[in-house]
Amino acid sequence: MALALHQGRSQKPAPKFRTQLLAGSLAQFVDPLPISEIVRASGSHPSPTDPKVQIPYYRIAMRQFESKMHRDLKPTQQWGFGVSSAGATSPGPTFETRSGQGLLVEWVNELPETHFLPIDHSIHGAEPDKPLVRTVVHLHGGKTPPESDGYPEKWQAPGQSAVFHYPNGQDAAMLWYHDHALGINRLNVFAGLLGAFIVRDAVEDALNLPRGKYEIPLLMYDRVFDLDGQLNYPVSGDPQKPWTPEVFGDAILVNGKLSPYLEVEPRKYRFRLLNGSNARFLHLSLAAGHGFHQIGTDQGLLAAPLLLDRVSLAPGERADLIVDFAGLDGSNVVLKNDFATAVMQFRVTRAAGRDSSALPQVLRPVPKLTESMAVKTRKLSLVEVDDLVGRPFQMLLNNVHWNMPVTENPVLDSTEIWELINTTDDAHPIHLHLVRFQILDRRSFDVGAYWMQNGEVKYTGAAMPADPSEAGWKDTVRADPGMVTRIIARFEGFTGRYVWHCHILEHEDNEMMRPFEVVAK
Ligand code: C2O
Ligand code: CU
Ligand code: CU
Repeated sequence: MALALHQGRSQKPAPKFRTQLLAGSLAQFVDPLPISEIVRASGSHPSPTDPKVQIPYYRIAMRQFESKMHRDLKPTQQWGFGVSSAGATSPGPTFETRSGQGLLVEWVNELPETHFLPIDHSIHGAEPDKPLVRTVVHLHGGKTPPESDGYPEKWQAPGQSAVFHYPNGQDAAMLWYHDHALGINRLNVFAGLLGAFIVRDAVEDALNLPRGKYEIPLLMYDRVFDLDGQLNYPVSGDPQKPWTPEVFGDAILVNGKLSPYLEVEPRKYRFRLLNGSNARFLHLSLAAGHGFHQIGTDQGLLAAPLLLDRVSLAPGERADLIVDFAGLDGSNVVLKNDFATAVMQFRVTRAAGRDSSALPQVLRPVPKLTESMAVKTRKLSLVEVDDLVGRPFQMLLNNVHWNMPVTENPVLDSTEIWELINTTDDAHPIHLHLVRFQILDRRSFDVGAYWMQNGEVKYTGAAMPADPSEAGWKDTVRADPGMVTRIIARFEGFTGRYVWHCHILEHEDNEMMRPFEVVAK
């Protein structure tokens, strides 16, 4: 399958360290799947855009805490999110709101003054004069005003907080919140700073999809543990420059547990999947070839359900799935990654009642953005800079650094095509803040000729449309190696400064992120 080929280095096994725990040596399916609580507002405050209206106010603290990530591991130190006066979880609590129902969150940094993962002070934003611990929360997929979007340079140190306004003027979808601090984002997310944020609306309500306890977020990401059961973020071997180009763990966690199980009834379930890994691409399937339906992408419902036996998610991407366990009473169904790794197990119990939920044939229209709507096409290259011995040293967008002047200035309410010209050997999941987009196509080009001829693209193959599982609204797209991936977006909502970047967090932290600015007409 095309998807499996486009992995580049991402398919290499995790590096082994002398002190690394082999996750495969632990017993499987001994812990129940944790399900994060839905967070409740602590009060209400006047809306920043209409002070006559009160909107919910949440106060969420980032804290260091310990929890068992597997029955046979010691408690693992992590960073997470907590509501009450003490404690935290990772993933953090789940937000649930409705389209157009704005809310305010005060994100409070109550973390210690020192980081427990290896900071590389040679990376932008993480210089020795900066506080070691800095956080700024971003709502990934949110149509959020710029001052609340979590600009990577606008971080808070321990003891500080920021109040962000999320208007949620967008379609039903599962978004996610995570840290975005410049230069240490990969470490903060690896430490545990992420959680789910669900937006609902009337279109979704009317579909009668499985809900309540039959709808479950599955937040998946890989980690490396040491022999003490502590998070072990791999380093380069150069103590002055510990950054490594990608981190792959052999332990895949679901909602913070290593190979958990979930008891399910023989009926339909809706699973909201997120790949929250730093760098690992997931290729998920159910054992014994059980099929399932995909009903949504990053930014909401597909036009119609898609029958699949495998779903692929790059870091940052989401999939909305319906799995029907009817008729499987008493059996166990394993969710696998690639071909071998058992990610989690579903234990099908006896029916507790009739399944009155539906899987409608038609979900939600996805009006096509056509090329003729675009007023501008931008050619944007993805570039890897190697050091003298050929090791990746930096990743760049358009061959420029983070702190160079803004070059992407889309006009508010205009539509643009962005051509992501991937000159590297890796697939890069490219994410744009603020907007949702559609994938036009992917097309192979001659990378050698591109460099020789000053950035002229010579196509070597036919344009391929998006995979059916990507043919909806997206906010993150896999840019395959040696391909031009074209996306189309309407820049609506707000003017101001945002970012776009690779969602391999090691890349993002090391220059593969650029600002863009939506400007007024
Ligand atoms: Cu998932 Cu810039 O973020
Ligand atoms: Cu984002
Ligand atoms: Cu990348």
